[in-house]
Order: sequence, then structure tokens, then C-alpha cells
Amino acid sequence: MTKIIKINPEKIDMELLEEAAHVIKHGGLVAFPTETVYGLGADSFNEDAVRNIFKAKGRPSDNPLISHIADLGDIERFAREIPDCAVKLAEEFWGGPLTMVLKKRKGIPDSVTAGLDTVAVRLPSHSVANALIRLSGTAIAAPSANLSGSPSPTTAGHCIADLDGRVDMIIDGGDSMIGIESTVVDCTTEVPTILRPGMISAEDMREIIGEVNFSGEVKGAPKCPGMKYKHYSPNAEVYIFNSTKSIEEDENSCVIMKNSEGAGFSNIKVYDAGKTDTEYAARLFYFLRKADEDGFSKVYAQMPENSGIGIALINRLMKSAAGRVLD
Ligand code: TXA
Ligand code: MG
Repeated sequence: MTKIIKINPEKIDMELLEEAAHVIKHGGLVAFPTETVYGLGADSFNEDAVRNIFKAKGRPSDNPLISHIADLGDIERFAREIPDCAVKLAEEFWGGPLTMVLKKRKGIPDSVTAGLDTVAVRLPSHSVANALIRLSGTAIAAPSANLSGSPSPTTAGHCIADLDGRVDMIIDGGDSMIGIESTVVDCTTEVPTILRPGMISAEDMREIIGEVNFSGEVKGAPKCPGMKYKHYSPNAEVYIFNSTKSIEEDENSCVIMKNSEGAGFSNIKVYDAGKTDTEYAARLFYFLRKADEDGFSKVYAQMPENSGIGIALINRLMKSAAGRVLD
């Protein structure tokens, strides 16, 4: 049985949230809101609990998890070495949508790191996430709270759709603000390297620490193990379009685009993605799931700008669309 509780992020009911912390402390699984997407959490230091995350999600065991902390100092429980650039990035961007990969300390369960010599750590900004971590008195290992392969959840409803009956508790804390997952940066390389783009861009980081590598594509053996799997896929086939001229209107298809008013469609459902790529990011996963719920078999999604958060959006969309791009 999955218990669902509702917590207002602006006025947290600590007594109710204590129930969720109790579940974490006793080795259970709790889906909880963060500013990026919902996470499926367990005690980072409880090997069995962490293994259960993989079972609940159907996640391949060679894909490591991010450990979420609530205090900067807790980074030392995970990292055996903290390079200067990591300190600077943490000071600038934590709490927030940035995950750092660091050399791991002994004693961190192999299930968290998939046996790698490195560990991923993030300090979120979401009030409910932070309060849950503090009340649990540990760090919380959490991937996105979706079934493996499907779009990341940005509402409690998405978590319920994927995980009801498979986890102990789901905390409904409203919609995730950012809508796509954190930027993952590897701080173990000479020059820090972006493994997964997110809202915090390479330019944002370069302003703080100078050089940052980002190839746009993971070449060869992926260092971010998760990036090699099928991802973010609704049941419908997704196509990325550059020009609306490429769209064939029919009742089985739908369009996701910014500023859709005045685009001149007559025979196709349009989901409006707002005015900017920031708004598009907040809605993309929501609309990919909505397209399935509404029974569409084809989704035309607009190509974002190739800058800022648009780069992260393109990265997710290319996976949803298995690389299908129209003019
Ligand atoms: O915004 C987010 O990051 C969300 C929320 C819940 O915090 N979490 C999330 O987790 O997106 P997940 O598991 O869906 O994605 C984590 C990514 C995966 O691609 C994984 O391979 C990578 O981080 N990762 C984790 N540990 C790593 C490590 N030691 N080295 C390289 N990549 C790592
Ligand atoms: Mg995920």
C-alpha cells in the first residue's frame, strides 16, 4: 500500500512530514518533490533500501543514483576529495539544480554508485526536500520517481501513475518548478565536464570557475551511465520539428510548441509550451505524459533554442524522439 500525503511547501506540516522521515529511517521508499523533478528516495547508507529503489523503478543496476543532502558540510560524508571548483560551484549554485560527481569515500553502498569510484551529490533548493532530508537525519539517494524509461515526473500525479503500490509513500508537494533534471558535472576531471545538461548551463559555471567542458554528446563509453538508456519516452512517437510546415495535421497527432497562438492549426491538438524555453522546460514532461493520456499516437515537439536551458531541453527531446528531427 502506498500512502499519499499532501505537504504545502510554503507552510510545511512538520508532524506530517515526520511520517515520511520515519519511512526513510526504517528503510522504506518515499517519492518527494524537488525543484527539478520528483525523486524516489531511500536512505543513502542503507544498501537494501537503495536496492529497492531499483526494483520499484525497474532501473538497470549499473545506473548510479544521486545522493541528496541538506547541509553543505555533508558533502564530506560522500567525497574523499573536494576540489576548489566544487567548493565554488556549491557556494554559487546550491541549493539548486546542480549535481556534482566527486571521488567517493569508503562506506558508501555500491548500489548507490553502481560500483564506481565516484559519487553524485546534490543539495536541492526545494523546502520539502530539504526538510525531509533533515528530519530523516541521513542523506537521501534518489533517482527521478518514474518507471525506468518514461518521462520524469513533475507532479505527484505522475508518481502515483508510475509507482502506486510499488513504494511506501508519495508526498504531494505541488508541481516541480524547473521541470527537467539537474545539471550533472563531473568534478573529478582536470577540467570539470558536464555529463548531463540542465538549467545551470556551461556558461553559468564558466563565470564562476573558468573552464568547463561540454561536448553536447557523450562520446564513446558514457561516463554518466544513465545517459545510454532509452529515456523520457511516452508511448506516442515523438518528432522534433523546426518549421510548422513539417507538421501533418490529423486527429491522432498533437503539437507541443511555444507561442502557439496564431500558428494557424485547424485540425490538430496543440499544447502551448508558454513563451520561453524556461516555460517549455517546466511543461515538456507534463505534456509528453498528457499526450499519452489523451490517446495521441504522434507528438510533434518544437525544437528549442540552442542556448541556455534550451540545450538541456534539446538533450531530453532528442532521447524522447530517438533522434527524429524534421525540417
Ligand atoms: O534533478 C535531478 O537530478 C533529479 C532529482 C530527483 O534530484 N534526479 C535525477 O536522478 O534525475 P536520475 O537517477 O534520474 O539521474 C541521475 C543521473 C544519471 O544519468 C546517472 O547515470 C548519473 O546521474 N550519475 C549518478 N552517479 C554518477 C556517477 N558517479 N558518475 C557519473 N554519473 C552519475
Ligand atoms: Mg531519471
